[in-house]
Amino acid sequence: MSHPRKRLVMGNWKMHGSLQDNAALLGALLSGAVRGGDTELAVCVPFPYLSQTQALLSGSPVSWGAQDVSIHERGAYTGETSAAMLADFGCSWVLCGHSERRAMHAESSSLVAAKASSALACGLSPVVCVGETLPERDAGNAERVIGDQLDPVLALGAGALGRMVIAYEPVWAIGTGRTATPDQAQAVHAFIRAALSRRGAGQTRILYGGSVKAANAAALFAQPDIDGALVGGASLVADEFLKIAAA
Ligand code: PGA
Repeated sequence: MSHPRKRLVMGNWKMHGSLQDNAALLGALLSGAVRGGDTELAVCVPFPYLSQTQALLSGSPVSWGAQDVSIHERGAYTGETSAAMLADFGCSWVLCGHSERRAMHAESSSLVAAKASSALACGLSPVVCVGETLPERDAGNAERVIGDQLDPVLALGAGALGRMVIAYEPVWAIGTGRTATPDQAQAVHAFIRAALSRRGAGQTRILYGGSVKAANAAALFAQPDIDGALVGGASLVADEFLKIAAA
């Protein structure tokens, strides 16, 4: 049976790259990307490389985005980047509330929802990241934590939810080599799907992220509520990233 939602495999480069490395990586992605394939490919790159990414990927089947966005439209916010600026560089996507930003920049769930909303206002699709830490999981609190992270985003309503993507990334699986099992991931995805469905947005795509690689992607993608992946480390290696997309 074919999957009910178009699969999306998105790279999160984090703070990696250089003009030279990006040209090689994007070039390799372009030669491997399949136009009209049944999996959408995207990369979220550091701000300084949006211009290069736009120049190289325009007109290709690979879309691009940024890793954060300001809640403000413009003004005295040194160091911030507005959604309109991202739109100027052809971004389709922006990550909102990645666990590294929640942890290192104290981003609250209401701030993350405000970021999603400012992205939507400029025609970008937010990719809202949620996920529990290991102590939270071990204490049996994963669903409560994820529910709390989702609440302000769900409050944006069905119209907004229909234009975004949710990424479930258990913090303990990010960059650790320790992936959630397909069953563990599916259980959380089903929980998120139910919450979205109650808001009339049951078809919003839900990506899994956390040590996804070619070797484990197919088993994850076989789950009914996993609609693709948000890929960190493995997205920096073109061949590995393309294999994940082909899984
Ligand atoms: P990872 O990162 O694939 O390197 O675990 C995923 C992410 O942080 O988005």
